[in-house]
Amino acid sequence: MRVITYGTFDLFHEGHRRLLERAKALGDELIVGVTSSSYDDSRGKLNVHQPLLARIRNVEESGLADQIIVEEYEGQKIHDIQKLGVDIFAIGSDWLGAFDYLKDYCQVVYLERTKGVSSTQLRNESAGGVLKLGVVGAGRIADRFVNEARYVSGVNVEGVWSRRFDSAEVFAERHELARAHRNFDDLLATVDALYIASPHGSHAEYARRALNRGVHVLCEKPLTLVAEQARELFALAEERGLVLLEAIKTAFSPGFQRMIAIARMGEIGTVRSVEATFTKLVSAGREYDPADGGSVSELASYPLLAIIKLLGVDFVDLRASSLRPKNAAVETFTKIDLTYPQAVATARTGIGVKSKGELIVAGTEGYLYVPAPWWKTEYFETRFEDPARARRYYSRFEGDGLRYELAEFVSMIRAGDVQSFKLRPSESIAIAEIIEAVRRDSVPFGVAQRPFDSS
Ligand code: CTP
Repeated sequence: MRVITYGTFDLFHEGHRRLLERAKALGDELIVGVTSSSYDDSRGKLNVHQPLLARIRNVEESGLADQIIVEEYEGQKIHDIQKLGVDIFAIGSDWLGAFDYLKDYCQVVYLERTKGVSSTQLRNESAGGVLKLGVVGAGRIADRFVNEARYVSGVNVEGVWSRRFDSAEVFAERHELARAHRNFDDLLATVDALYIASPHGSHAEYARRALNRGVHVLCEKPLTLVAEQARELFALAEERGLVLLEAIKTAFSPGFQRMIAIARMGEIGTVRSVEATFTKLVSAGREYDPADGGSVSELASYPLLAIIKLLGVDFVDLRASSLRPKNAAVETFTKIDLTYPQAVATARTGIGVKSKGELIVAGTEGYLYVPAPWWKTEYFETRFEDPARARRYYSRFEGDGLRYELAEFVSMIRAGDVQSFKLRPSESIAIAEIIEAVRRDSVPFGVAQRPFDSS
């Protein structure tokens, strides 16, 4: 009888060993499937500590596996069971019921999980306990963030502070947080790290106060509307050895990183043009706040991220035009043109104009097309003059995607890294520079900043 089981087997522990022993005892040959890192990433299992080879070695050293295979994609189990002639599929009882669909192919056995030990627990212990996170702001985005934080191991949202105490209280209750604070400094005193989701114009002040108290900062985009503040904050974080990360979720998602890698690898030749559009219709609310609203401050972080990841920060010219309809307090549509020595790029953002939200990366050999919502990259394709060369790429984007930025933030803190190659300080600073310049200097068009007389 051939038995198969699957797992991540990170920081191999007693629970793993006992599971493999019992699985092996069900038959006479045991096959163990170890998940690849990209499969774990794509299914949202973040924060795995050991690389695939080390995890395979863990299983090998247990001496219990007769064969080890790598699990690389969803749906592989059915394939493996048939290909390898498996009789029994065994897995821990934490999965009870989840693999009943395999009963069409073999016997399915759920083995009782060993109590009191897990990789998650070991990861937390080795990292000095669970990271305590505080939240600033109690709005929609903070809500989504706290929901997503459940999917990231090693971190716990402890408390919240908001300018209005009553909304912080409601928020804390809704998410079962330990505390809503009346005072921002009280929140800082109880946490290791802070997530800032307050109105854009207030980010810099909260980030500075947190860094000055030795608290790591994950800050919603745009980090600041004034580039000098972004530079100061990164300098402060570096000086204090703290992590400061701008929460542009797209940057940390597996699909987007893959897209960037394919383009930078030269798959479509040399990149000469990037066109990125993001529009989201909103009719009222803080997006129309004259101080920090408008389509640029709301949305430009996404298209600018794509442009900067693909072409770098050394653009030589920047021009922008904005549409500000009569009676509107802010611009509602903006087109930003960047010129690089060997390439051009355009970003379009709209809160009062709807357009197709696509990303097109044009190269000397072909182009890369990412359909909307490209900022939650799940799918893209490369296309060439010869249609036979076209390729399609698929990835997963789990939930709202905020888990990816939080997982990166947590692993940076754990590893003592102050920079992430997924979004470098220099890239966040360049984005802030562009946003500041565009908000200050964009040329009015159409209905225009100067109210247009339609009569
Ligand atoms: N397992 C077990 N007893 C434990 C922990 C894990 O029987 N205490 C089993 C799981 O049910 C699974 C296999 O070991 O069948 C591999 O699990 P894996 O996900 O690698 O380990 P966990 O410790 O559960 O990892 P994590 O905490 O990251 O979820």
